[in-house]
Parts: sequence; C-alpha cells; structure tokens
Amino acid sequence: MKKRHTITAALPYANGPLHIGHLAGAYIPADIYARYLRLKGKDVAFVCGSDEHGAAIPIRAKKEGISPQKIIDKYHTIIKKSFEDFGISFDNYARTSSKTHHKMASEFFNELNTKNIFIEKESEQLYDIEENQFLADRYVEGECPKCGFEEAYGDQCESCGSSLNATDLINPKSKLSGNIPSLKKTKHWFLPLNNFEDFLNKWFLKEKKDDWKTNVLGQVKSWINEGLKPRAITRDLDWGIPVPIKEAIGKVLYVWFDAPIGYISSTIEWAERKNIDWKPYWQDPNTELVHFIGKDNIVFHCIIFPSILSASGKYILPSNVPANEFLNLEGQKISTSKNWAIWLHEYMEDFPEMQDTLRYVLTTNAPENKDNDFTWKDYQAKNNNELVAILGNFINRVVVLTHKYYNGKTPEILTLNENEKNLIDEVYSFPKKIGVSIEKFKFREAINLMIDLARLGNKYLADTEPWKVIKTDESHKVDTIMNISIQICGVLSLICEPFLPNTSKKLKNQFNIKTIKWEDINRNNPVISNKIEKSNLIFRKIEDEEIAFQLEKLNDSKQ
Ligand code: MF3
Ligand code: ZN
Repeated sequence: MKKRHTITAALPYANGPLHIGHLAGAYIPADIYARYLRLKGKDVAFVCGSDEHGAAIPIRAKKEGISPQKIIDKYHTIIKKSFEDFGISFDNYARTSSKTHHKMASEFFNELNTKNIFIEKESEQLYDIEENQFLADRYVEGECPKCGFEEAYGDQCESCGSSLNATDLINPKSKLSGNIPSLKKTKHWFLPLNNFEDFLNKWFLKEKKDDWKTNVLGQVKSWINEGLKPRAITRDLDWGIPVPIKEAIGKVLYVWFDAPIGYISSTIEWAERKNIDWKPYWQDPNTELVHFIGKDNIVFHCIIFPSILSASGKYILPSNVPANEFLNLEGQKISTSKNWAIWLHEYMEDFPEMQDTLRYVLTTNAPENKDNDFTWKDYQAKNNNELVAILGNFINRVVVLTHKYYNGKTPEILTLNENEKNLIDEVYSFPKKIGVSIEKFKFREAINLMIDLARLGNKYLADTEPWKVIKTDESHKVDTIMNISIQICGVLSLICEPFLPNTSKKLKNQFNIKTIKWEDINRNNPVISNKIEKSNLIFRKIEDEEIAFQLEKLNDSKQ
C-alpha cells in the first residue's frame, strides 16, 4: 500500500438535491474506503465539492425562474447538508465557484495553452437562432449515434457512456426552444485526444490493470481502440469560468475541463486550512489517487482528465477508478425529470436517525458489477431480517444477559476449551478479511462479512445456551461465554465503522470501547472493557404501513 491516499468522489452538479443513486454510485463506497484507510492510520485526503458550472445550472435556473447564482447557492447548501446527514466524511467539501478553483482551472488552461497542447479551430456548431445561443452539452438533446438512446446530450450519452460532439447527434433539438438547431461558425480550443493515444495505450494496455473493474477497463479499451478525436474544451456560454486569454473573450471553459480540477482545488483548500502542503497529494508517486464515480463519468476520469494531467507533466494518475453501474428504483431508471427517485432530504424526514439503514441497504445492494434495483420491500427486509434480527438482536441479547447475570460488569475468562480458542481466532480474523475486500473495492463482500460476524455471535449463543447453563453453572462456564460474546460486540463496534458510522458510535459508547487501529484489532488485544451500559435498541423494525406509504408517495409524485 502506498503511503498517502487522495480519494475523490464525483462532484455533484448543484442543480438539484441528491437521491439514493448518488449515494450508492459514488459516495458510500468512497466513504467506506476513506474511513477504513483512516482507521488503518493512513494519511488520507477525501475531497469533493459542488460542480457549479456547465449548462446544467442555467437550465435549472430557467426552470425555477431564478438566477444561476441562486440555484447553486440553494443546491450547494442542500447537498452539503445531505452529505453531513449520511455521514459522508469528506475532509473538504468545496465549490467550483470558489476563487481558489477559478484560479486553479485558469492556471491549468494557461499552462497547457503555453505548451501548445491545444488546437484552435473554427468550426460549425449547433445554434438556436431564436434564443441567440450556441447549443452545446445539455442545451441540446438528440439520438445517440452509438446506442440510439433518444435523450443523449451534446457532450455525452448517459445511457451508453459515450462522449459525443453535439454535431454527432441524430435529430438534435434545442432544449431552450425545441427548435431544430442551425449551424454557426465559432472558434474553440480543442484538446486533441488523438495526440494522447500513445500515452493512454501505454497506461492502459501495457501497464497491467488487473485490479481494475472489468466494466471500467472494457469501456476504456473500446474507446481507445475506436480512435480518439479532438474535444472542444471551451464554450460560447455566459456561465462558467472565463477562458483566461484575450482571444477568447466571452467564452468559458467546458465544465468537464474545469470540474475534475475541482478535486485539486478542494485539496488545496483543505491543505491550507491544515497548514500543510497540498502538492504531495497530487504529485508524489507514493500517493494512491482513487476516483469514485458512476459509470456515466468513466470517459472523463479515465481518458480526458488523465490526458490533461499528463499534459501538465507534474501530476500522478489515478491508481484506480472503481466506477459503479446504475441503481434503478422499483424496476425503473432513476430520473430527476420524472421525479422517480428517493430524495435524501425527504428520506431524512420520514426516517430520522435511520441513515445507517439506508447506508446498509445501498451497500449490500450496490451496483458494483451490474445495474441493480432498489425496492422498498427489499429495504424493509434487509432492515428487519438483517440489521434488527441479526446484528441488533445479538447486541441486545449480550447486553441484556450481561446486565441480568453480572449487573453490567464484564465477567472474566477462567479457562478456554479448544472450540472456544478456535472461535476467538475466527472472531479476530474478520478485520483482516474485511480489509482485503475493501482494498479490492468489494464493498458488498466486506459488509456481508461484517454481518457474518454477528451471525457467528448469534450461533455461539444458540449453541452454548448460557440461559440454561446458568442454572447449574459451577465451573463459571457462563463467564466465558459472556466474555467472548462481549468481545464479539466489541469487534463489531469497531469493524462496522466504515459502513455504519452512527451505529459504531453508539456501540462503542455502550461497550466502552475506544477506537484503535484496524491492525490492532487482534486477539492479543481483546476488544473489551469492564463495564457495559444499558441502552435502547440500536435498530428498529420497519412496519408494512411505512413501506406502503413510501410506495404510494413514489407513485403519486411521478411526473
Ligand atoms: N457533475 C458531474 C455529474 O454529476 C460529475 C463531475 S465529476 C468531476 O455527472 F470530476 F468533474 F468532478
Ligand atoms: Zn449512447
């Protein structure tokens, strides 16, 4: 493992609130990874921020009848709050409208421009005569020439992930007026991706990337093999970062040029606050850079941004880009425009204090290798049959029995038989196993292992039946059973932290456990204190009526 870790999660557009698809796609996996590495004592910078440029913002502003500035202020606040609510532990959450970011993105452009990396070219671009505006990116929609999806944007198809030029679209339509666009000449600065083919081939095809996901590698390799074309990185828009050269007055940087640089700007803000140097986090080869994203962002993180970084020459490249596939909802694609989504701020109102339940369900059901479906029924089942019936039940039984037999004071082990020795070994083998899964970005596997430990605890109690033994217990057998069970709770309180941070906090308080380094959770260091507190149940059952209500709400609000 490298010495330092820079972890990024896709900057969400500040044009709407967050829904469960955002959490499942990028933010929960990134947070699990960051929390785990911090518990290992690693030097971590986990950064994100709001993506406040691009056509997404003025389009939303027009829809809501307020200024783009009001839109980004409004949604930046809502989004930031949702991340806090769900315990996404960013070291910094920035905004691309900040001074630091404008400066950094402008410097990048200038550096590459001075090195003659870009080509300047006049070309015909789509134009809406009625609205007096060029139609790039989300201002235009049409059929994707690659997959036939009918709502592809001018820069990208969110269905197949292809990156497009607006003029590639079949039957394009202006999103402003619905008109068929005309063509108009304009000058732009292009990043000639074709000049980066050698670099990309070397990076992707020659360097082994065994640890990358096959869905990510597959997409990237097929794009490279098809041949890459120059991409315009400037736009004729009035919302964005002004292109910092005088020949380009009135033009702004393409949002996908500036946004990934936002990861760096966010790191800079964080480092300034901590009074440390940001550069090693982006420039020292002993740093592992990992980008957590959804699959629609693969081309930008695996081809375009690495090309920009390599053109600068000073930067490291991502060690991995563990992109997730999409999460559907009740069998249909999540859609903001159709209001087919579970909004995080609404979830918080309906299920206060139940953030960890959603984190749990979204992790066990994460679209790691293929699209997956979220259903309210499954959410209820996972909560009731796993969190309540396995994890919660085990903890509760241990607390109740310890209070009943020992008044909450931890009994000591007198002797251990062979089975018990093996059991203890098994219990302390979990942190290592879970770590291996997390390091491979297999978060479903990791969280299932965590629950398996609670299962093991339940089985141990069921097999040993301390409630029977206590009646005739002359050799202090129950002391041992309860001591081991309390240790299992202790280990659970620590290893659930990356997945269920609130639960971990409650359990650590209840069992009086202090956080220790992941590697130090081993049998030479029994995770146990001498007293456990009484407390309320940590999970609650979800009733059928609550689920029926959610399903009704979802269907009623569909547009
Ligand atoms: N805002 C983009 C989206 O929601 C993601 C930007 S990621 C970054 O799809 F790399 F540009 F930051
Ligand atoms: Zn497509």
